[in-house]
Amino acid sequence: MKILMVCLGNICRSPLAHGILKQKVKDKQLNWIVESAGTGDWHIGEAPDRRAISIAKKYGVDISSQRARHFRPEFFEEYDLIFVMDRQNFADVCAQAANKGDLEKVQLFLADDIVPDPYFDDNLFDPVFQMIDKRCMEVIEIISKKKE
Ligand code: 4NP
Repeated sequence: MKILMVCLGNICRSPLAHGILKQKVKDKQLNWIVESAGTGDWHIGEAPDRRAISIAKKYGVDISSQRARHFRPEFFEEYDLIFVMDRQNFADVCAQAANKGDLEKVQLFLADDIVPDPYFDDNLFDPVFQMIDKRCMEVIEIISKKKE
């Protein structure tokens, strides 16, 4: 199973989702690969936002070695599932799909809700961490059950 987490800048939400799920996958000794990317190209090669690094560290997750990548259409081939954080990400990723199979890989990470962008609001980092953390546990359960 190869999972890609996608947001806009790949420096706040998707690095958190990437780091949190990766850690849980490791704890459960699942053989899954988790990575992330952004639909925007402003931050390519940069480490996550210092506030994202700091909130993750507070809860025992190290995301400091991640580097931002730009989403590319080739990623549809590479990943089994592409989780997007909000509806703009959904539209931007789907616009690059080549076929129905590609489109079927794209899901809102929270299923029927969005992960709000904390970039312009320092106070959102903690609740965003909590909602991503909770959903990562659910995602592991849902995917593990499907694979049984
Ligand atoms: P992210 O947050 O999509 O969660 O990584 C943002 C990061 C950077 C920008 C916007 C959102 N930006 O405009 O540079």
